[in-house]
Formats: sequence, C-alpha cells, structure tokens
Amino acid sequence: MKKIKLAVMVSGRGSNLQAIIDYVERGDLPAEIALVVSNRANAQAVERARRHGITSIVFERSDYPSRLARDLAMTAAIEDHGVDLVVMAGYDQLVADELLVRFAGQIINIHPSLLPAFAGGLHAQADAWEYGVKLAGCTVHFVTPGPADGGQIILQKAIPVLEEDTAETLAQRILAEEHKLLPEGIRLFAEGRLELNGRRVRIKPVGSDNLYSARELLV
Ligand code: GAR
Repeated sequence: MKKIKLAVMVSGRGSNLQAIIDYVERGDLPAEIALVVSNRANAQAVERARRHGITSIVFERSDYPSRLARDLAMTAAIEDHGVDLVVMAGYDQLVADELLVRFAGQIINIHPSLLPAFAGGLHAQADAWEYGVKLAGCTVHFVTPGPADGGQIILQKAIPVLEEDTAETLAQRILAEEHKLLPEGIRLFAEGRLELNGRRVRIKPVGSDNLYSARELLV
C-alpha cells in the first residue's frame, strides 16, 4: 500500500507524536512523517522529532505580525511538503480557518474526552473527573472551522472512571488509549476507509478503494 505523508502539529510533551513515530518505525502504519510543526520552540515534541531525524519547523507567534500570518506560513510549509494528512497531536491553540479550509477532510485531532462533552479546553480529563462522570475517554475527529473540537467524530474510546482515580490517574489511563486511537485514525484515513456524510463518518470495510475519500466528498 502507498504510504501517505503526515504533518504532525505539536506544542508540548509529544507523547502522541512518539506513539505515531513508534508505529511508523515498526512498519505498523502505511505512513511517513514528512514534517513536525510546533508553535513552541521548547516543546519536548520538537526534541523527539530531532532524535528520530524528522524535519521540524517552529512557528513562534512572536516571529509574525499576526496569528493569521503565522498560520498562513504554517499552511504553506505543510503544502510544500506534499502532505496528505495533518494530525494535531497536542497542539494547544486554535488554528486559522484558512488552514482548516485548505486541508478540509485532511486534518484530524485527538481530544482527551468523549466529545461533545468537555470540548474546547486544555484540561478535559480533569474537567471530566471533577464533573463526576462515570465514563471518560478520548476522541479522534476531523477539524473544521467553527466551535473548537466540533468536527466530525472518527473514533472514540471510552474507559470507566474508577473509584480510586484522581484527575491525574484518569488522565494517564486516557493517554494510554490516545496512543492507540490516534494511530488507528491515521490508519483508517490511509486506507481510504473514512467516508464523510454530513456529521457522520462511516468507516468502510477493509478492501474498499480510493485514498482520500473524505476530501473527495467535500470538494
Ligand atoms: C493529549 O492528552 C491530547 O489529547 C491533549 O493534549 C495532550 C498532549 O499530550 N490535547 C488537547 O487537550 C487538545 N484540546 P502529548 O503532547 O504528550 O501528546
């Protein structure tokens, strides 16, 4: 199967980036990471990319006249690398609609809650624990203009909240699921098995043809 090219957008620790790197290096994903994009020079994720010989580019807000100018530069860099799928893996800012429109149907995010609950924030796991939910989890979804974390849901994994959980242990157990769910979302995209129908994403059975069907259906 043809390998797809990924751009991974990161801001911090980069454990989800590491999970993707590990899948790719083991030959468990039909993908290569063409580019890592960070909005923070000191992100541990950038160091992880460097250690694995992956090109990374830092787009600090302070180097550009506006956030839009920064996001347009980011869009151009991703285009220049011939990327098929943009993966937001712990990216901690909203991105300009221009980037989302350019990569419509080709940009996904991992969020540490069962969307649409606890959308939008950067502490979804603690918010869920404090709220007292009995089920928590994570979601892989398309990123679209509009409300944060409001794009079509591709995959979700639910886990029970245990009596002995703290916000921290719950976040750790959700993270372990993120490290499997995000690569699975990438695999489904690479295999051309995601079909968008309004808000619904249908996962086509193995053996279906057509790479990039999600984008094709949008344009
Ligand atoms: C992950 O838990 C990810 O789901 C979350 O940030 C963490 C990044 O960790 N993303 C969001 O909350 C986005 N709203 P990582 O840098 O170790 O992958």
